[in-house]
Amino acid sequence: MKLVILPLAAGLILSAAAVDCFAAAPDGKAVFERNCSVCHSVAPPPKSAPPIIPIASRYRAKFSSKAEGVKAMTAFMQSPSKAASVIEAQAIERFGLMPAMSALSEADLRAAAGWVWDQGGAGMGPGRGAGQPKGSCR
Ligand code: HEC
Repeated sequence: MKLVILPLAAGLILSAAAVDCFAAAPDGKAVFERNCSVCHSVAPPPKSAPPIIPIASRYRAKFSSKAEGVKAMTAFMQSPSKAASVIEAQAIERFGLMPAMSALSEADLRAAAGWVWDQGGAGMGPGRGAGQPKGSCR
C-alpha cells in the first residue's frame, strides 16, 4: 500500500509547488542574488554591508509580524535614513548608509524584504523552516 501512496503524495506536493510558481510575486531570493548580494553576505563575515541573518533578527525583534517588518524594510530601501534604521547604529558608522534601491520596483523590494525576513527564522520559534521558501520554483 505504501508504494502506491508515496508517489501520489509526491505528486500532490509537486503540483502545489507548480501552482505557487504561477503566482505573480517576484522571487525574493533571486532579487536578492541579483541586486543585494554584491554588498550583503547572508551570514558573517560581512562584505561591504551587514550580513542578512543578523539584520533579519533585528527586524524580527522590532516588528511582531512579517507584514509590518516587510513594510518597514521596503520603505527603508526606498529611502534609507539613520532615523528609519532598525539595526544597531554602529552599522551605519562602519559601513555607511545603504544607497536607495531606486532601480527596483516596489514589488521586487517587497519580495526581497520577505526573503530577508525569512532568513532570521532558522531555529527560532515561529519562523522555523522558513529558509525553504514555498514559492521557490527550483
Ligand atoms: C551598495 C551596497 C548595498 C546594496 C546593493 C544593498 N545594500 Fe542593504 N545595506 C547596505 C549597507 C551599507 C547597510 C548598513 C547601513 C544601513 O542600515 O543603512 C545596509 C542595510 C540594509 C538593511 C538594514 C536597514 C536598517 O538600517 O534598518 C536591510 C534590510 C538591507 N540592507 C537590505 C538590502 C536588500 C534587500 C538589498 C537588495 C534589494 C540591499 N540591501 C542592497 C548596503 C547595500
